[in-house]
Amino acid sequence: MSSTPIGIHDISFATTSLVLDLGVIATRMGIDPQKYYSGIGQVEMSVPARDEDIVTLAANAALPIVERHGRDRIRTVIVATETGIDQSKAAAVYVHRLLGLGENCRAVEFKQACYSATAALQFAAAMVQRDPQQQVLVIATDVARYDLQSSGEPTQGAGAAAMLVAADPAIIALEPVTGLYTEDIMDFWRPNHRDTALVDGKTSIRAYLHAIEHAWQDAQRQGAPGFEQIDYFCYHQPFTVMAVKAHRHLVKIAAAAASSAQVDAVLEPSLIYNRQVGNSYTASMYIALVSLLDNVAQLDGKRIAFLSYGSGCVAEIFTGVVQPGYASHLRTAAHAAALQGRTAIDDADYLARHAQTQPTDAGAHPAPHETTGHFRYAGLSGNKRLYEATP
Ligand code: HMG
Repeated sequence: MSSTPIGIHDISFATTSLVLDLGVIATRMGIDPQKYYSGIGQVEMSVPARDEDIVTLAANAALPIVERHGRDRIRTVIVATETGIDQSKAAAVYVHRLLGLGENCRAVEFKQACYSATAALQFAAAMVQRDPQQQVLVIATDVARYDLQSSGEPTQGAGAAAMLVAADPAIIALEPVTGLYTEDIMDFWRPNHRDTALVDGKTSIRAYLHAIEHAWQDAQRQGAPGFEQIDYFCYHQPFTVMAVKAHRHLVKIAAAAASSAQVDAVLEPSLIYNRQVGNSYTASMYIALVSLLDNVAQLDGKRIAFLSYGSGCVAEIFTGVVQPGYASHLRTAAHAAALQGRTAIDDADYLARHAQTQPTDAGAHPAPHETTGHFRYAGLSGNKRLYEATP
């Protein structure tokens, strides 16, 4: 077995062209906006334009990576999502074409709620270990949709995170020990006939904490670094206060002596982007990583723990070490531009977009050009989804 470090060689995130301030939803519901801004820790949520979906988000996130590193060594692209656009064809196949990847490449989609990008990352690391010349593109991409007036409505959002997994990584070397937990439960799910998720909100919070606790205990039994050996923690963030709740729970389980102020200080840099994007399901924990990397100086040699949770449920905890010189590989300005470049929409516009459903007939249904991204969903024709680079 090779001892070459393997991990994240490059990472980039993309979000939608539109944004809604959560105060707009609070006003419509007649509740105090502070419930959202500080109670759940969400300020805004990204809203897809009519020609944006998980495929365009994924391709937009990954384009800067393939432009920087080339396409020749990428022989696998994995798209992790729980908001797939086809029951059969992998979103990765559309993304593969949009990115101009070579034909001698495998393309596949992974699913297990918000967790599957972590499975994709672990699979990718194993593939690179088998052939260190190979690079694997892992892309987490989702559009979170709940019913209007439901408890989940303020926790919608959309985004994608793309990672190039390679030997001798420039950003994060993954450590091999992981902690795992799986249990068949119904805390959050989306039956095939629905385009919005169903959730038992309070149960889902308890299920998240329970799964993280058991995955942590497994990680410790497997010989993972202890709490005191970890410098930063990146959690799955369905809403950012969930990460704070989970970290306080972990402090208790690990019998660590962290004060509330220390908990908040260690987490805060990883919450900045998700507070503005909303829940991006599979991408959320990796956008948290980008937020941490972009918002803290001098992370060289620091160990980060990743705490991944997907309802249903599966949890995995693993660690990685930030590589010397990583800072020159970041895309901080592009990420800030993606967030700041979104156009704010009002409640009427948001409600009209939320009400829109996919046509089910075989006619031609072109999508209006709204996106500011590099790729667009051009519409449906004969029940086939059409994608193109923007002119
Ligand atoms: P809710 O029940 O409407 O809210 O929705 P609440 O009454 O529990 O209030 C939320 C917090 O705001 C509380 O704080 C209130 O005290 C506080 P806490 O007690 O929790 O510390 N609050 C205020 N704070 C300041 N000023 C005020 C004010 N009023 C109240 N005026 C819930 C909350 C999370 C249930 C809802 O948003 C929801 O259903 N979300 C969707 C489910 C979810 O995100 N679950 C998280 C765990 S499951 C998961 O992470 C997986 C997931 O990503 C999917 C996947 O894996 O695929 C969801």
